[in-house]
Amino acid sequence: MTGAEHTAKRKIVVRGFTGRALQDQVRAIRSNAAELLAPFLPLGRIDLVNDFGRPFAVHVTLDVLGLDKRDWRRIAAWHHGIAEFITSITLTPERRRHCLDCAEQLEAYLLPVIEERRRDPGEDLVSRLCAAEFDGVAMSDRDVTALILNVLVAAAEPADKTLALLFKHLIDHPAQLAAVRRDPDLLPAAVAETLRLTPPVQLIPRRAERDTLFGGVRVPAGATVFCMIGAANRDPDAFTAPDTFDLHRPDLGTARSFTAAAQHLAFGSGLHQCVGAAFARAEIETVAAMLLPLLDGVRHSPDAAYRETGLYTRGPVALPLEFTPVPTPVPAPVPAALPTRPPTHQARTR
Ligand code: HEM
Repeated sequence: MTGAEHTAKRKIVVRGFTGRALQDQVRAIRSNAAELLAPFLPLGRIDLVNDFGRPFAVHVTLDVLGLDKRDWRRIAAWHHGIAEFITSITLTPERRRHCLDCAEQLEAYLLPVIEERRRDPGEDLVSRLCAAEFDGVAMSDRDVTALILNVLVAAAEPADKTLALLFKHLIDHPAQLAAVRRDPDLLPAAVAETLRLTPPVQLIPRRAERDTLFGGVRVPAGATVFCMIGAANRDPDAFTAPDTFDLHRPDLGTARSFTAAAQHLAFGSGLHQCVGAAFARAEIETVAAMLLPLLDGVRHSPDAAYRETGLYTRGPVALPLEFTPVPTPVPAPVPAALPTRPPTHQARTR
């Protein structure tokens, strides 16, 4: 999308992820994280990608959009297929069919939701998209669907990868993990350095509108150029010891790392720069601040081999961790002097 259409639609989406809306979303981020973490804390082990990060990223995004979290498994499966379509450089005809099926099924799921929000709007992003106008005309169902898919994939894909990579880097650098535990104000720097060293979105494709000379290379009109974020973020002219994880590095500038003036390129740059950067920061920092005190003695599971996958978006396939189990809170005992309450109807019939 380019030009006036892009500017107008981008504005609508930005409003859904900043200011007051963002404050409300931090509450939803906390409650989703607490609910999803609870079953793993007494076990003393968790796969930060598959047990927690992926479901968490999808739950939070569904909350923002205003979609039903009870449907998260099938929405996640469809979203996974769509993400595969967008981020694959080549696809077999079977995978292509599967991915397109996912898009069709998600569209069929969304259409009745869109109809309902047009009749009875709420505060959620789907309602805002339904109510928004472009050139004085309300957006079509297809426009709204396309934007929902865009936000769903853009928001859910990189979040679990960033969270897992943050913990991997901290565990691999115990002195920096200890420093963040001592001083949680260092957390934004640790997230920014994670995004620089291992950006979850590794490349951005662009098509040249006209013949161009770029960095001494002739780029013909119509050619696709892959802008390699992962390589730019390790440019030795921009960063000292670029392959080293160092949350204290002076050449990154944490304060601007989540803005248009960022020194790293993890959120892209220019007109299409990520609209969710502030939300991503709140999401990752909030959940990491919750996890750090809970995951006491956190370490890699001894039998786990680390593996990453992905070219366009990239992250660990799994991150099995162990930590000191957190005892389940014991319910407060009923004082002996109080009469026991009669069983409720619900309790009797259970
Ligand atoms: C760590 C997390 C994230 C990273 C690393 C990331 C990275 C990116 C990148 C590299 C782009 C492409 C910029 C371009 O094409 O030039 C992008 C675009 C976008 N992102 Fe994110 N993103 C993250 C989280 C989010 C979240 C949480 C949301 C939604 C709340 C979001 C919504 C979007 C949207 C809608 C676009 C398209 C913007 C446009 O074309 O104008 N992203 N993001």
